[in-house]
Amino acid sequence: MWPTAELHVHIEGTLDADLIHELAARNGLPVPAGAGRGAPFRDLQEFLDVYYANLDVLRTRQDFQDLGARYLARAATAGVRHAEIFVDPQSHTERGVPVEDVLLGLSAALADARAEHGMSGGLIVCFLRHLGPEAAMAALEAVLPHRSLLLAVGLDSSEVGFPPALFRDVFERAAAEGLRRVAHAGEEGGPDYVWEALDILGAERIDHGNRALEDVELVAHLRATRTPLTVCPLSNLALRTAGPDLADHPIAVMLDEGLRASVHSDDPAYFGGYLDDNVRALVAAGTVTEDQVGVLAANAVASSFLPDAGKAALLAEIRAHAELVGAAVPALALDPAEV
Ligand code: ADE
Ligand code: ZN
Repeated sequence: MWPTAELHVHIEGTLDADLIHELAARNGLPVPAGAGRGAPFRDLQEFLDVYYANLDVLRTRQDFQDLGARYLARAATAGVRHAEIFVDPQSHTERGVPVEDVLLGLSAALADARAEHGMSGGLIVCFLRHLGPEAAMAALEAVLPHRSLLLAVGLDSSEVGFPPALFRDVFERAAAEGLRRVAHAGEEGGPDYVWEALDILGAERIDHGNRALEDVELVAHLRATRTPLTVCPLSNLALRTAGPDLADHPIAVMLDEGLRASVHSDDPAYFGGYLDDNVRALVAAGTVTEDQVGVLAANAVASSFLPDAGKAALLAEIRAHAELVGAAVPALALDPAEV
């Protein structure tokens, strides 16, 4: 298993049917109708409606710790050595769950994963675009007392109709607090959404970014600035934002174009797989070669918010793995100056 970094997973999207049943029983709640619902979905919105409804069973700090712990244990088996986890606090606070229970529960799971699996990681608080910019600003203010637990802010949920520019002030305020910035863009929205995320929000990574390929100037810009794209192939099939054939997935073009793209899992409980499942599916479809799997892993590490020493240590692990399995050593693992 290639050592790698998970940079695009929504912790709420790891809430699988088993844990939904367990938490419903523990909290004396009915099992939501969407428990066990999986791909395919008509579009992003149909998925999101199920995803938000299932969250009803998450009530206590222990629930969030258990959710995080299950995900991190599974991620460790996929070769994940560093996990930057998205969390949607508004989806919990609007149900009356205190924000500190969400953040402290997940942080406890991350601390345990460091001890048990030798994994590093952190939390990225995402704003729900469908609730608008004022609600996002309130959500930012609510998490700032826990600033030390956070790596970055992000932007997710329904994309089309909620362009990045709406959230300019929130991202400016987050940057002033020293938080890193990422944003979902180019999943269903066009290349203009990617430009706005970069130019107006100051996003350092683009989550998905598939539709960036429609704009040759944008592709050139992403290449020149080495802007990471965190790509989720099984999600794209499940939500019909790519496919239907994985062999045609845009990750192949992204790598050919020299973009810093890496593969991640998005909402693995719903889309049929974790990071390793996504990579295996791409190889099985002939979309990427075994050598390119190493490139994807190195890109993920280089795209992370790890300090330089942490990136260098993981790239050294990738180099050792390549030598062990007789694969090509990814250029990034040979030349740290490229990182
Ligand atoms: N929240 C959870 N999964 C998402 C996705 N694929 N796109 C936007 N928001 C999300
Ligand atoms: Zn996502």
